[in-house]
Amino acid sequence: MNNTISVADLREDYRQATLEIEDVAPHPIAQFDEWFKIACSQAVKEPNAMVLATVNPQGRPSARVVLLKGYDESGFTFFTNYQSQKGKELEENPFGALVFNWLELEKQVRIEGKIQKLSPEESTSYFKSRPKSSQIGAWASPQSTVIESRNLLEERVQSLQAQYAQTETLPRPEHWGGYLLSPDRVEFWQGRTSRLHDRIRYHLQSQGDWKIERLAP
Ligand SMILES: Cc1cc2nc3c(=O)[nH]c(=O)nc-3n(C[C@H](O)[C@H](O)[C@H](O)COP(=O)(O)O)c2cc1C
Repeated sequence: MNNTISVADLREDYRQATLEIEDVAPHPIAQFDEWFKIACSQAVKEPNAMVLATVNPQGRPSARVVLLKGYDESGFTFFTNYQSQKGKELEENPFGALVFNWLELEKQVRIEGKIQKLSPEESTSYFKSRPKSSQIGAWASPQSTVIESRNLLEERVQSLQAQYAQTETLPRPEHWGGYLLSPDRVEFWQGRTSRLHDRIRYHLQSQGDWKIERLAP
């Protein structure tokens, strides 16, 4: 292969910050909140973009980026098509993992836990808050299915635009809505020099009781 970039030689040393067990919040959501605010206030592009991994019943994982749309003590929320690949996998195996990779901050957050659908009311409330073009998109796109051409998609959009020309808000498709990941493991990773990174992991022991440990990098 004629490749002028030596991938093996790409290397960064991380020196921006440190993470000590004594300094982290007792609850992982409070710690996430602290880091997320830093990511939002600094030049991180789309700080709410996260990788979501799911696993099918045969144990085969798949991963993709989705947008975080909310977080609180109960967990992390995102929205998607329930009939997509991730939706089908979650139907069969309701566990998943999230990864935030904030390279500009040399920080990573890994989250694992059970994923359940939000209530129809919560999904509808968020659906209605989206721009009309996104609402049309949710109806137009049979997410993760094979389509013959882009044209087909654009025709569907045009026909929906005509159908809903007089309406500001479309009804929410039943196959589109939110999920909540309730975390039982959350790891905060801070890049350090010479690959001796800081890793602090929260592990849920029982309701509200989080064990906090340092992991080797
Ligand atoms: C920055 C970014 C944000 C995205 N946000 C979402 C999202 O919030 N919801 C979603 O369903 N797909 C989102 N996608 C598209 C997904 O990565 C993916 O292509 C789609 O959900 C289909 O995944 P699946 O076939 O594994 O179910 C986003 C992609 C990128 C790159």
